[in-house]
Amino acid sequence: MDQARRIVMSSPDHYEVCYSINPWMKPDEWAADPAMAGQRARAQWATLADRLRQLGLTVEVVPAVPGLPDMVFPANAGIVLNGRALLARFRCRERQGEEARFLAFFLDLQRRALVDEVRQVPEGIFQEGAGDCIWDARRQLFWVGYGQRSVGESVDHIALFFGQPVRRLALVTPHFYHLDTCFCVLSGGEILYYPPALSAESQALVAAEVPAELRIVATAEEAAAFSLNAVNIGRDLVMAGPPPRLKAILEERGYRCHGVDLSSYMLSGGAAYCMTLRLDLASRPALDDNLPEDRQWQFGT
Ligand code: ARG
Repeated sequence: MDQARRIVMSSPDHYEVCYSINPWMKPDEWAADPAMAGQRARAQWATLADRLRQLGLTVEVVPAVPGLPDMVFPANAGIVLNGRALLARFRCRERQGEEARFLAFFLDLQRRALVDEVRQVPEGIFQEGAGDCIWDARRQLFWVGYGQRSVGESVDHIALFFGQPVRRLALVTPHFYHLDTCFCVLSGGEILYYPPALSAESQALVAAEVPAELRIVATAEEAAAFSLNAVNIGRDLVMAGPPPRLKAILEERGYRCHGVDLSSYMLSGGAAYCMTLRLDLASRPALDDNLPEDRQWQFGT
């Protein structure tokens, strides 16, 4: 498999906010001046893509589809590790049409040898991709969110498919409906998170796994600024905001914060991390590829 640093973004050409499936979405605000809103969104997207390219990433662009505005958030389309892609099952009817489009895109990536294998979570088991499944390279495990969009059962499928340890985190508030809105794993091992978005049990699990000096607790305002929805490449962090206190904490720890205005996408409940999907993440140990034949993985829809 191709080893370059590679990331997926979806073209913003048909992006809009025309329905509401999470508490951040404001279709009325978009509808006030759709032409201007669309123009602004495309400019913000281009700034994000340019910044990622400047940081050495190759951006693979998924074509936009009219009527599927949230395709612009490819983090929800699947999980990729070690060149193996596990494609999502969307909970909301509004987004289910994305599944076939992303499947076609991933099969094309496979033809181009940019991924080795493409499968899909079984039908009926909602799982919204890397938005609810974040790789922790330092600890060699996945942090997996469930309870709002993805279902608890999806966690077992992820563990089985990738053969990696998982830590399950229950999301308990509608505002933080994907793990990536409230939980950010940094390359130095720090976890930047907003604890009230997690159940008491899940908060305890994070505290047990991550030593206090590596836990960075965000405020409600910082979480609402979507600064936790960040792309981390080595010591660089590409993110909406960040508010000054958070920026200072991160810089103190040796991270470079690249703030990007993503207000057009926050209007839909998303920002930098969920506007992207890394193709280049890999685990340290060798994979167990000897999966038994009776696994019920589905190829496609
Ligand atoms: N409007 C989209 C939705 O509600 C936003 C998704 C943002 N994705 C994320 N992983 N946070 O599905």
